[in-house]
Parts: sequence; structure tokens; C-alpha cells
Amino acid sequence: MSGAREQFGSRIGFILAAAGSAVGIGNLVGFPVGAAKNGGGAFLLMYAIFVFSICLPVMLAEMTMGRHAKKDPLGAYSAISGDSPKWKLAGWLAIATPFMIAVFYLVITVWIFGYLFEAVSGNLDLLANPETFNLFINSSSIFIYMAVVVGVVYLILQGGVKEGIEKAAKLLMPALFVMLLGLVVFVLTRENAMAGVKFYIIPDFSKLTASVINGALSQAFFSLSLGMGILITYGSYIDKRADVPTSAKLVALTDTAVAFTAGLMILPAIFSFNPNTNPEDLSESSVGMIFTYLPNIFLALQDSVGYLGASIVASLFFLLVFFAAITSLVSIFEVPVAALMDEKGVSRKWALTSLGSIMIVIAILAALSFGKVEALTSFIHYAGVDKSFFDVILDVFYETILPLNGLLVCIFVTYRWKSANFNKALEEGSQGYRGSWFEKYVDVSLKTFIPAILLVIFINTVAVKYF
Ligand code: PHE
Repeated sequence: MSGAREQFGSRIGFILAAAGSAVGIGNLVGFPVGAAKNGGGAFLLMYAIFVFSICLPVMLAEMTMGRHAKKDPLGAYSAISGDSPKWKLAGWLAIATPFMIAVFYLVITVWIFGYLFEAVSGNLDLLANPETFNLFINSSSIFIYMAVVVGVVYLILQGGVKEGIEKAAKLLMPALFVMLLGLVVFVLTRENAMAGVKFYIIPDFSKLTASVINGALSQAFFSLSLGMGILITYGSYIDKRADVPTSAKLVALTDTAVAFTAGLMILPAIFSFNPNTNPEDLSESSVGMIFTYLPNIFLALQDSVGYLGASIVASLFFLLVFFAAITSLVSIFEVPVAALMDEKGVSRKWALTSLGSIMIVIAILAALSFGKVEALTSFIHYAGVDKSFFDVILDVFYETILPLNGLLVCIFVTYRWKSANFNKALEEGSQGYRGSWFEKYVDVSLKTFIPAILLVIFINTVAVKYF
């Protein structure tokens, strides 16, 4: 496309947009439940260590690649590698992955919107019924909700980087913080709430098995939106004067703080209504937690604040999750949109409409794979089980290719682009970074143990998932 590249209008705009991408369903539900089940404070500590020692350097690598190349991920890999066909392949992966992850994230966001709609309409009692979720995800109304969610994402992205993505983040993120804090205060003032806080925070180091540690790292990696080309793309919308290390630290800090705070809402809420909760009973999956467990907890509130009060709390919760999901969805869909605009020179509108249409078709197939259409429900058979179309997307792109993409970024910036060039590009705009211990740490870690760890995760996932 001709003309100057679109840019974020302010530093805070960039930070909020990147934090908007990072803060998602994973923070609000995945993290609290993971922490509560797997050692409380011990899990939290490990998670925080991973965020800053492993994820932050990868974040810097992605943002710097984008800022330096001023291109989408595919363009960035080819420009920096001098059009190497092998590295272009990595670029393709970095745009195909977000496209497919967007499909499953869209489906879950559609369900959240549906639950929000029902809660606002006064149907909390229906949502609390254990049968509802299955009926709901197989009902035709989800296609109407899908139209609404896609419409919202379309409208935001249609506005472009500054007037769309940045404006939405500036509006939705503060609203999200306020709602989260409001809910935390409300929950913490309920009876028995402290039992939940204790359960959430008191460390139990004996729970830290190899698989819990692996899970914490994957959670941190996903939560910071790494391996999806998002930060390469957002990085391409900031200029050389931007202080990348400081911005990245703030994004990581915000993301971790929101995840931690969400735990102060979810666990105390559960314990307040059911003081004898057995940690083993907490659903392993975020989906089970959001759509079956929590609606029951909200309904139980009616004893103290009435049905209307309970419905308001539930509506606020689903609105909070919806806002978090929308800013993540916007960021992930921007990646293929930016790629099509950059690589083919088409307009934003054209890129959005064409990719959006393909996305809707695949998302409908994914949404139909929960029982409605047999061929999609038992899509393929591996590792001894029938997998649905939805499961396959999750296994292949989220579980397997995500760490691979992170690994490729590390190897690319340090060995292909070369550390010296990468460091120089990263130093621009950041006086304090040059020569700091942090720079040395990032430099060494990206060349050595971070790619090694990601490689182990990748090989382990392949071995466990498919054989
Ligand atoms: N960081 C998001 C979360 O924690 C994950 C995500 C980001 C998903 C961007 C999709 C797009 O839920």
C-alpha cells in the first residue's frame, strides 16, 4: 500500500493495545484455576519467574523484529533474512498460526457473548443448569452471536491502528480494570472469602511436578501472546523513538497483575459459597469453569443479594471476560490482515472482508464440531481418540506450533539477523538498555537456554500428543 505505515498515536496507546492482546481468557480464568490447583503461591512464583526470565526476552525479540522491518511477520522474516525461502516458511507459520488460533478463540468468545446476553436478559438460572452449556453450544443462536462478535471485531479493525485498535484498547482496558477491581472488592467482602484467598496463595511446593512446570510456562507463553506474530505486527506500528524494553516490561507486568488479581475474584467467590470446596473438584479446563461452574456460583449469590443482584454480578463478569477476549481477538486477527495488506498491497477493508469471510466459514465448522455434525465431531483419529475439528486446531496450532514459532523467533534474531544487529535495533529509543545487565541477559538467554527449553517443549508435545 502506498503512503506512510500506520502507527500507534502514543506510547500508552501501544502499551494498552499490547496489554489488551495479552490480557484474555487465559488470565481471567486459566491462570487462577491453574494456580489454585497446582500449588498456589508456588505456582504463582514460578509463573512470574517464567514471565520475566523466558517470555520477556522473546517479547523483545518479536517487537524489535516488527519495529525494525516495519512489516507484518511474513514480510519481517523475508526482509531481515534477505528473502531466504527457508525463513519465509517461518513467516508463513507466523501468520497461519494466529489465523487458526483466532478460529478457536472466536468460537469461545461467541459463547461468552451468548452467556453475557443471557445473563443480562435475566436468565442466570438457565445458565446455572448443568445441561445448558451443551445445548447452548449446539443451538443455532450461536450463529447470531457469531455475527455480532465478528461485527465488533470488524468495526474496530476497520478503524485502523490508531483510530481502531488503539481507541478500543484505551476504552476497553480501563473499563476492564475497573470492573475487575469492583468484582474483587465485592467478592472479598463476602463471608468465607478469606478461605479462598488462603487456598489461592499459600504455597505448596510439593505440587510442582514436571508437568505443572511445563503447564505454567505454556500458560505464560500463551498469555503474553507470544509465537502468534502479534507482537511483530504491533511492533511494526511503533517508531524508532519508542522505548521497547520499558514498554515490554509494562505489558508483562500488567498481564501478570491482571492474572493474579483475577484469582482474588474467582477463588474467594467459589469458597464463599462452598467453604468445603475440594480443590480436586475444580474443573481442569477454563471452558468448564466459565460456562458451568461459575454460573452456579453466581446464582448462589441470590441468597444474599437477590436474583437481580446476582444477575448484575454475573453480567459484569461476562462483560469483563468479553472485553478481554475482544481486545485479544482484535490483535490476533490484525496479523493476517496486516500480512495481506503488506504483501499484496490491498486496502484494509478488502483484507478484512476477504479474510473475515474465510474465518467465518472455518469458525462455523469449528462451532459445529461439538456434536451437531458427526464428520466434524469425530474429525480425525490419533493418540487413541477421536478428535473433533476444534480439538485438532487446538492441538496443532496452540499446543504444538506456538512453542515452535517462539523457538524460530529466538534462532532467527540471534543467528540469522545476528545478535549484534538485533541488540542495536533494540537499543534505539532506549538509552538505559544499552550495556545494561538486562541487555546481556536477553542476549545470552535468546541464544542459549530459551530456544533449548522451547525445543524440549515442542518435542515433548509432539511425542505426547500424536503418538
Ligand atoms: N493472551 C490471551 C489470553 O491470555 C491469549 C490470546 C491472545 C489469544 C491473542 C488470542 C489472541 O487469553
